[in-house]
Amino acid sequence: MNPPQMKNLTLLLLLLLLFSLHLTSVLSWKKDEFRNCNQTPFCKRARSRKPAPSSLIATDVSVSDGDLVAKITNRRDDQIKPLILSLSAYQDGILRLKIDEDPSSIPPPPKKRFEVPNVVVPEFTSKKLWLQNLDTKTLDGDSSPSSIVYLNEEYDAVLRHEPFEIYVRDKSSGKRVISLNSHGLFDFEQLKHKKPKSDQEEEKHDHDQYQDDDQDQDQVQVKEEKDEDENWAETFRGHTDSRPYGPQSISFDVSFYGADFVYGIPEHATSFALKPTRGPGLEDHSEPYRLFNLDVFEYVNEAPFGLYGSIPFMISHGKTHGTSGFFWLNAAEMQIDVLTAGWDADSGISLPSDRSRIDTLWMSEAGIVDAFFFVGPKPKDVVRQYTSVTGTPAMPQLFATAYHQCRWNYRDEEDVENVDTKFDENNIPYDVLWLDIEHTDGKRYFTWDRVMFPHPEEMQNKLAAKGRHMVTIVDPHTKRDDGYFLHKEATQKGYYVKDANGNDFDGWCWPGSSSYPDTLNPEIRSWWADRFSYENYVGSTPSLYIWNDMNEPSVFNGPELTMPRDALHYGGVEHRELHNVYGYYFHMATADGLQKRGNGKDRPFVLSRAIFAGSQRYGAIWTGDNTAEWEHLRVSVPMILSLGLTGISFSGADVGGFFGNPEPELLVRWYQVGAFYPFFRAHAHHDTKRREPWLFGERNTELIRDAIHVRYMLLPYFYTLFREANTSGVPVVRPLWMEFPSEEATFNNDEAFMVGNSILVQGIYAERAKHASVYLPGKQSWYDLRTGTTYKGSTTYKLDISEDSIPAFQRAGTIIPRKDRFRRSSTQMVNDPYTLVIALNSSQAAEGELYVDDGKSFDFKHGAYIHRRFVFADGKLTSVNLAPTSPGNSRFSTSSVVERIILLGNASRPKSAHIESTNLNVDIELGPLWLQRGRGSAVVTIRKPGVRIADDWTIKIL
Ligand code: NOJ
Repeated sequence: MNPPQMKNLTLLLLLLLLFSLHLTSVLSWKKDEFRNCNQTPFCKRARSRKPAPSSLIATDVSVSDGDLVAKITNRRDDQIKPLILSLSAYQDGILRLKIDEDPSSIPPPPKKRFEVPNVVVPEFTSKKLWLQNLDTKTLDGDSSPSSIVYLNEEYDAVLRHEPFEIYVRDKSSGKRVISLNSHGLFDFEQLKHKKPKSDQEEEKHDHDQYQDDDQDQDQVQVKEEKDEDENWAETFRGHTDSRPYGPQSISFDVSFYGADFVYGIPEHATSFALKPTRGPGLEDHSEPYRLFNLDVFEYVNEAPFGLYGSIPFMISHGKTHGTSGFFWLNAAEMQIDVLTAGWDADSGISLPSDRSRIDTLWMSEAGIVDAFFFVGPKPKDVVRQYTSVTGTPAMPQLFATAYHQCRWNYRDEEDVENVDTKFDENNIPYDVLWLDIEHTDGKRYFTWDRVMFPHPEEMQNKLAAKGRHMVTIVDPHTKRDDGYFLHKEATQKGYYVKDANGNDFDGWCWPGSSSYPDTLNPEIRSWWADRFSYENYVGSTPSLYIWNDMNEPSVFNGPELTMPRDALHYGGVEHRELHNVYGYYFHMATADGLQKRGNGKDRPFVLSRAIFAGSQRYGAIWTGDNTAEWEHLRVSVPMILSLGLTGISFSGADVGGFFGNPEPELLVRWYQVGAFYPFFRAHAHHDTKRREPWLFGERNTELIRDAIHVRYMLLPYFYTLFREANTSGVPVVRPLWMEFPSEEATFNNDEAFMVGNSILVQGIYAERAKHASVYLPGKQSWYDLRTGTTYKGSTTYKLDISEDSIPAFQRAGTIIPRKDRFRRSSTQMVNDPYTLVIALNSSQAAEGELYVDDGKSFDFKHGAYIHRRFVFADGKLTSVNLAPTSPGNSRFSTSSVVERIILLGNASRPKSAHIESTNLNVDIELGPLWLQRGRGSAVVTIRKPGVRIADDWTIKIL
């Protein structure tokens, strides 16, 4: 090769190398945008500590204001200031633990640490059980005293003084349920004042005088200086966040006893039963579950990194104890390790080993310890206990529980009208049409692109005439444009979050340079809420509702695409302290705005992407930007189950997948699963092909229509479940083990789920699936939802699958209310008659419930609703009232009647039915179970019994 050829080849190789480097960086770009634990100083520090008997002791233990209070002192280092601890008991077996710095210490802490306001509901505080006396004794096997706090008949809490440890135990057996600091990993970094430079110099000088000149010492010196610098700032990918109070993290270990699996701590795209993240058998670089609200572009499956929301609530479930829960009310970045057995092998710690145990490590960057222990012991007890602290889910309007059609973006009014008409032409019901960011004037929220949407009121009114609604998007990033009224007002009033220098924080988002309202401040929340009045939001009408997106908050040019941790909020709170709750306050203020507007009577509907514990009180949430892939359809189910278990029962995933173009088969399967999501909405990225239900040929349209029809038929059942969630916290969609807590085979099944207590759904997550393996739990039988075919419980079946539907079953012993007439929207079905599907068990009995109200207002809070219980036994179906009938209550009634009663599994061949109230006999026929296209076997059907759904009645089978 001559020299010029050599040169060319070298150049080519260099180019190839550069190209391949570029390729790798493109492919791994998304992951690199975000920190891992090693790049997160507090996580790295906490993970490097080894389990060992704790050097902390509880001293000065006493009772004060009904709480057990104590100081936590380090017996090895008297330079560390003691912390203050309080333990309080609440009704229903709830223990609250608080640990903070002592404000009376000398010198006092430089500021008060952030305690998350407005998450614990006010009613909870009134449930406190006032502790009267100190009960301190030495428990069996211990050498130091412990103080005991009564929780309920079965459980109490123990504060062990030395070493410091807290646990909840079963009183009769003495067995532990949950414990904290059993592995001695409790650590609390106290706030510091940054010393003036001159003091630092002086200290360095003093220090130098004691140093030898050898190289090792030099290295120590360099490291200390570096550590000292790292205390006051941290850098990631060119972003430096100052830390004016030094490191302030908290970490501790929590153990769950009698536990086979742990669940919860959403939001992650992972399996429902949480996989271990550390310990023997796992790779060293495996990451803890991260809770840090982030706008993760194209998130991947099976990853523990944090998505848009954070709920620091973990639930354990197992055969021996049942269910218990642990919630840490803390809004700073959190990382949680689930440890494999044996991780603590060399620690010298031996915990009671008579029951399976799962150890976890909790690490947070800031805040205080404000933790809640829930004793269960049944799954529904734990969700009830947790939602008594953070609130039960809001009762949605009926329309919001139906099908939503969304896309980024419906271009203009003509597009909206076409889509709306096509739904009717194709006989597909839908309730809500959504407009994404392009409907605004240059991403200025509360405005309209006047060229594309010149008549917003008229557009909404046309939809409303068919009983439909519209949702527009309103994000927190506010365009920094002096001509924009919202920006002008927020600037003048000083309502924006500040940067570390005290100026309005300026970050990049959809509109370009943007600022963010500081909704931690109640005054700003109230101002924000007022933006939604009809006068302020020009072009909005009563049928318009809201979508809050990007409220993590998403900041395109910020560290990890969010706000710098040193940004400042109301009351001098650093962003690092409240990051995970920012979107929550924004959601809260928006929901409040919708409630206040107009006559203030209607229930709000606000969908939010960012969430925190308690978000269930403000509306629905969805799992963000998923992808049109089978694996994303699969993971949507565990994601929704985790959310439900942690209070957020109104959730869904973008049907079809946000990014990419689903094959028709995937889209159809997604609709079939999505029809059972609590929140059922199709959505797509603007770069994707249009995918409204009628665009994939006759057959696929038919299949999608059928899937949507299933949801509409089941709306009375869904609405009843939403009310159950609203009163008890029990989620609409549940893991199988919530209904069958002792069936081990269900503990890590996250492909199937229960809708309420009566329907089991098995998703199909693979292309061209011909068979599905389905486990049907319980001793009773199951009936195929469409065909009525009976299956015995506690059995795994290999079922043949067709494209028509996914496997779904009604549990024997239940009654499901349906509405089988298809209309354009749920609103148009309001007065339609009911079908009751009675699935008989082996005793020829069944029962079920129906809840109905006006679907819109808050009158249900004053008793204006119908709540029926249907009981079938001894050949009789009886409808009894469950609603309170006190005279002060307002009333709701409906003239809807029961038009059909279907009996599944009836042992005899009845001829007719006798209606006791009217003394009339009606015929019994063999009719189809499923109305559409005559599918399914013929079942016993009582036609037109004519009884009103709101009345008491009895029907006897003759
Ligand atoms: C991100 C959201 O997750 C997505 O649903 C939305 O379409 C885009 N933002 C544009 O607003």
